[in-house]
Amino acid sequence: MNRFTGKSIIVTGAASGIGRASAILFAAEGGRVLAADRSPQIHETIETIRKSGGVAHGMEMDAGHEADVRKMVAEALRLHGGLDVLFANAGISGGMPSLFEQTEADWKAVLQVNLIGPMLAIQAAAPEMIRGGGGAIVCTASVAGLRSGAGSPAYSASKAGVISLVSLAANQLAGTGVRVNGICPGLIETGMTREIFTRAAERGTTDRIGQLNPTRRSGVPEEIARAALFLASSDASYINGHALVVDGGLSSSLPIVPPKPRG
Ligand SMILES: NC(=O)c1ccc[n+]([C@@H]2O[C@H](COP(=O)([O-])OP(=O)(O)OC[C@H]3O[C@@H](n4cnc5c(N)ncnc54)[C@H](O)[C@@H]3O)[C@@H](O)[C@H]2O)c1
Repeated sequence: MNRFTGKSIIVTGAASGIGRASAILFAAEGGRVLAADRSPQIHETIETIRKSGGVAHGMEMDAGHEADVRKMVAEALRLHGGLDVLFANAGISGGMPSLFEQTEADWKAVLQVNLIGPMLAIQAAAPEMIRGGGGAIVCTASVAGLRSGAGSPAYSASKAGVISLVSLAANQLAGTGVRVNGICPGLIETGMTREIFTRAAERGTTDRIGQLNPTRRSGVPEEIARAALFLASSDASYINGHALVVDGGLSSSLPIVPPKPRG
């Protein structure tokens, strides 16, 4: 498929995990990608894309910092003459402290990247998309934004905020040709969750990971990247203001013991 031929695309958090996989897939479908991250590891993503013939540039920046976000959008315009797709994906977990351990400073740090970051990106990107006749914005939320238990309190609240942000931004951009959607991943093996996988491997419990969802496994970054590409593409032209859950079914049930399958 070549759904993004010639399109100008920004992906944040593209040095690792979901963002890296998405930048690679957008470029593989013909997109001209500006891959942004605070980590210098972003240059590895760019090398990977270029080696397979794709078009990509890298930028080291802080997705929670307004001036950096504005520079990122300006750089996409300079490089690619416009902006068609923004995947606001950069995020931090902030660890797993309880509500009573997590400080005000911890909350501010998590909200700054995970919620204020996508807000700043939408503010900077949407007017440029409107000037170019429309576009698509996708933000990474989480199943942690739907229910408690999949992250720290600040992380969950930040992701619930992202789910709200995509619906309100879609409506504030009504009639402009800019769609705004979100993705709620379940447990995906990335840099953010590496410790869970490493600890399980050390204990010999890798086969227990993902057993709480009906698909009975964790996900890989490409499974979220494919959903991001779908939402950003014209295949999703009538999907707007929606947060798509991609979690193997994790959030689809109350925590009951499921009946044994027949047959
Ligand atoms: N892995 C999961 O199970 C899971 C589940 C639900 C949601 N998510 C969300 O997916 C998104 C991507 O995370 P991932 O799982 O790929 O983790 P990851 O750690 O592999 O990738 C996140 C990337 O974001 C970058 N980043 C963090 N803060 C930044 C900042 N201020 N400015 C620029 N870049 C920054 C990191 O350097 C890293 O490269 C995050 O928003 C995360 O909350 C992940």
